[in-house]
Amino acid sequence: MCGIIGYVGAGEALPILVEGIRLLSYRGYDSAGVAVAHDGRLVVEKDKGRIEDLAPSWDRQKLSGSSGIGHTRWATHGRPSRVNAHPQQDAAGDVVVVHNGVLENDIALREELEAAGVKFVSETDTEVFAHLYARLFRGDPVAAAREILARCHGRFSLVFLHRAQPGTLVAVRRGSPLVAGYASGVGLVASDVRAIAGHADRAVEIEEDEIVIVTRDGVAVHGADGARKDRAAHAVTYDDSSLGKGAFPHWMLKEIHEQPDRLADLVAARIDPVHGRIRLDELGLTDADLAGIERVDLVGCGTASYACMYGARAFEALAGVPARMVPGSEFEARAELLGPRRLVVAVSQSGETADTHAAVEAAKAAGARTVGVLNVRASRIARSVGGFVDIHAGPEICVASTKVYTGMLLSLLLLALRVAQARGRGGAALAALRPALDALPDAVRRAIAGHDHVREVAREVHRAQNMLYIGRGPDHATAVEGAMKMKEISYIHAEGYAAGELKHGPIALVSWDVPTVALLGQGDARTKMLANVREVRARDGLVIAVAGEDDADARKVADMILPVPTVDPWLAPLVHTIPLQLLAYDVARRRGCDIDQPRNLAKSVTVQ
Ligand code: M6R
Repeated sequence: MCGIIGYVGAGEALPILVEGIRLLSYRGYDSAGVAVAHDGRLVVEKDKGRIEDLAPSWDRQKLSGSSGIGHTRWATHGRPSRVNAHPQQDAAGDVVVVHNGVLENDIALREELEAAGVKFVSETDTEVFAHLYARLFRGDPVAAAREILARCHGRFSLVFLHRAQPGTLVAVRRGSPLVAGYASGVGLVASDVRAIAGHADRAVEIEEDEIVIVTRDGVAVHGADGARKDRAAHAVTYDDSSLGKGAFPHWMLKEIHEQPDRLADLVAARIDPVHGRIRLDELGLTDADLAGIERVDLVGCGTASYACMYGARAFEALAGVPARMVPGSEFEARAELLGPRRLVVAVSQSGETADTHAAVEAAKAAGARTVGVLNVRASRIARSVGGFVDIHAGPEICVASTKVYTGMLLSLLLLALRVAQARGRGGAALAALRPALDALPDAVRRAIAGHDHVREVAREVHRAQNMLYIGRGPDHATAVEGAMKMKEISYIHAEGYAAGELKHGPIALVSWDVPTVALLGQGDARTKMLANVREVRARDGLVIAVAGEDDADARKVADMILPVPTVDPWLAPLVHTIPLQLLAYDVARRRGCDIDQPRNLAKSVTVQ
């Protein structure tokens, strides 16, 4: 999604804007641009493409100045192009603006401005803000920003720079995150604290419908009524170590390797070592509330929705509560079916996903209880939900989710067990799982250590155009997620199925050119999976089995093996997903794909 950076200080703005854009690029973008106040003018450089390719061609002399704004754009209104990139300007070049989000009354405002003689040059909704602000500005930036808030509908974070006041950035937040920071003689604003962490000592999270004036003297926050607000600033404590890839060539590989430690931290944080109870202190629900829950809807998008599939199974099996996964975009809040005995669990890495957020708001309006299982505390969904479970995975930079997926699975398992405990039935299940939870980080480490096996498989399959992934029980989610990882970063068409569904249609696709990845699992599921693998082999299909390290039968039926440690069946999906993450990574690498920023994708999807 789009990213915003703004700087005003004594030094050159351009290097800080370019660096900020680079730090925001993990969100996924298709164009980038900057505007700098230079010699009484606002100089704009922007185009489609990557900042690494664009910035070297920008004229540093013309862009010399000590205040400016920058942006990464992920196209919504109009294709990626120079003219549609941000910053957008008014016709006279008095105003530049960068924008995250969507202006909902774009058409009405555009028509009104056109009727007044304004000529639009881009297809963007953002250009409306530039023309409108230019007309509303009479020397008082707060007054102009108030008018913007009053006249514009939708979700938008904006930063304006006016030629008449080159030392003043004007930021407005409605619906999209924005943070303002400062240090001695420096003011900054960004959509993510990461972009300003190297330059700000303290920061203020901008809240809904607030206006912030950013100057060299600091930040001044105003409400939508224009009144000055006293807002506490917090120290900027961004962990710099997470800003680098270290020895890893890609963020994705680094994040795959972080999983053992992240999961160990999560187990340690969540299980009381003395009493063996699950600690979810911010759940906002009493034991009586949890015991009274009659149904759970788990809501998420993409990879988060696959975590929800697993979570729903855990709620039903462990807590005895009917549960289902609903994609965020498909959630319908039927008031007569909701109410306080329905728990809606919103699962999201970013906490900003618009469809998931809308589902939470609808559920709340219908009286349901809401809990967020989220990786970002300072996020929109975190502010909406009644209770919070922190996935605790640390910043995830690669667009394709890896460490947060396993963090989601573990968090949902523990949440299901917490509900089970409140209903008087989780004790035995947790006691049985305790040793397996303690051993989980090491099992994940061993799965990662099997990377050489994955490389061999990648060599075999990287030219495929289609792939199938099959699994049963909790590994149905692993299959769907494995296929998602493959398609999003390697652009191979891959589909995941419940293995029993194979013979009801997808088996028609089976051939040597369409490799099938089979998650064998354990017990009865494994027996059935072995039969499914034979069905594929009988049709000349190439089978890659994710199988226990000692599974001799797997070696007899499959063409290639990805060996994994055998763990408790509830934890198996966390281990089985590791070779699938690595396989997607190796295949994408062999195909020369942009692993960390796949085409057309954004890290956080803030439009519906
Ligand atoms: O931030 P969220 O977890 O809400 O994002 C949901 C999806 O957009 C996300 O999981 C997406 O599917 C990723 N590309 C998965 O790798």
